[in-house]
Amino acid sequence: MSDLYKQDDSNHKDYVKLNGEIYYSFLKKFHDFLNPKGYLEIGTATGASLANSRCNSIAIDPMFTVSPDSINNKRPVTMLFSMPSDLFFAEYNPTSLLSKKIDIAFLDGLHEAETLLRDFYNTERHCKRNSIIFLHDMLPFNGEMTIREYPGGAVPWTGDVWKVLPILRKNRPGLDIYVFDAAPTGLVAITNLDPESRELSDNYYKIWKEWSNIELKEYGVARYFDECNIISTSSVNTASKMRKLFWL
Ligand SMILES: C[S@@+](CC[C@H](N)C(=O)[O-])C[C@H]1O[C@@H](n2cnc3c(N)ncnc32)[C@H](O)[C@@H]1O
Repeated sequence: MSDLYKQDDSNHKDYVKLNGEIYYSFLKKFHDFLNPKGYLEIGTATGASLANSRCNSIAIDPMFTVSPDSINNKRPVTMLFSMPSDLFFAEYNPTSLLSKKIDIAFLDGLHEAETLLRDFYNTERHCKRNSIIFLHDMLPFNGEMTIREYPGGAVPWTGDVWKVLPILRKNRPGLDIYVFDAAPTGLVAITNLDPESRELSDNYYKIWKEWSNIELKEYGVARYFDECNIISTSSVNTASKMRKLFWL
């Protein structure tokens, strides 16, 4: 069992204690060490995560609250799409917008598993095999965080996006999935992508029917964290260490 896992969830308390680097600075290392040429982000809010990108970037969010500092003098081109991600992918082609494939994507939009699943396969089509797709909030630290409805206010909330990990493991075994202990709620990096795969989109209805009613407690909190094989952010905290697992 993972050392990070603390106890079972009878009181919805204390799933894990994540001691890794905060996800913002951890993501910045990928930008600094791997020098991506095209970035796409779903869920931007203030722009704190977008601020890491130095390359031409697409940001999608129906309710931007971006600060000028996250845009000014950061990169040559910043494209803001003020709409839900599904509408973006229906109407725009990120490969055309960037004039190249996406190197790094950060998916941090609506915290519903089925939306994240669509965000994943829609993004993957515009990636290369060695691009990296990051998923946020996959390691909830208590049960209250995993409810589907946004509770409002500033309380930490992951929704039920955790389901996407077992879905990907089952339906896309070829993906290389690394689950990092980035604070506060984990950061997952996925590479060895297959832009041609239609496994998830073709089976979307069947997959979601299978998963829509499964709660984390029912799946098994200990099982979930064990299957994650959580690794330390310090395992890729230098350029040479990172390039053993990721390259663009
Ligand atoms: C957790 S915040 C993003 C935080 C940001 N990535 C960061 O790390 O600072 C989630 C954002 O997703 C946006 N969002 C909600 N539904 C969305 C959707 N369907 N498509 C894209 N973004 C969405 C919200 O407006 C919100 O700003």
